[in-house]
Amino acid sequence: MKNYRIEETGQYFPTEIVGDNSGSVLDIAYQDVVQNFENAGALVFSGFKCDIEEFYRFNTQFAAKILRDPFEDRIPHKVSDEIQSVTIGTGGLELHAEFGHTPFRPDVISFFCETPASEGGATTICDSAAILMELERSVLDVFLSKKIRYEFGISERVWQKFFLTNDMSAVQKYLKTMGVDAHADRYRTLCAAWETPAVFKSRFSGLNSIASNLFERTYPGLRITFADGEEISPEVLSEFGRAAKLHTVELKLNSGQMVMLDNTRFLHGRREFLDPLRKLFAIQYMARS
Ligand SMILES: [Fe+2]
Repeated sequence: MKNYRIEETGQYFPTEIVGDNSGSVLDIAYQDVVQNFENAGALVFSGFKCDIEEFYRFNTQFAAKILRDPFEDRIPHKVSDEIQSVTIGTGGLELHAEFGHTPFRPDVISFFCETPASEGGATTICDSAAILMELERSVLDVFLSKKIRYEFGISERVWQKFFLTNDMSAVQKYLKTMGVDAHADRYRTLCAAWETPAVFKSRFSGLNSIASNLFERTYPGLRITFADGEEISPEVLSEFGRAAKLHTVELKLNSGQMVMLDNTRFLHGRREFLDPLRKLFAIQYMARS
């Protein structure tokens, strides 16, 4: 008999898998996870005796390739360097898809709360399929008809860590095969540009999504325009922000709770907090097919 129940909370909301406070997330049937994840795009796990080792073992069941964030503010967990701390600081973060402005977007990102903030610090999530349904027709038409262009710099230390080489021309060639134009500046920073449709099918549900990184402040230095060079107007961004806000869900995670997101469909962010003891960890990966 299963010692957990599955609670669907409605379209565009995460499905919750609720344990009886005695079992492990590793006891959850594989198919229960896969099917509910495909449908809902976001799973919240409550009522399990989950620690970081179980979090790691649980996620590796579904991972074909685990990605490490190369930015230096990420601290690897002692259990595995494939688990990393989240963005440094205590400020709020706008909704974004993890590395959604690059062709290296992981399919899945999962978070584990080791220590919640005493106040604030909620994880925000938003189903971008809901944003699409919400957008005014004229704005939706803009996103359907135009590609987005992302421009960003990758410092020498970061690209060497990510691509595991110091051969810049090899990296440039590889990026070209991924559709990224990159040139080096005098500091050996790679100045990269990638164009991609704003609206695309999510990896698991097949729903149309707009899990695009349109909020400029999430990734420092990220420049976002349409591919034809036109700026995304404040009106269009404001409508995107309105629709996203309407469908944003705040998750106040407790110690031992985890969340699993379809990173091709759900956006995530966080609310501001002041408590320096908050500890949230993430693992991100390409999923098994
Ligand atoms: Fe993130």
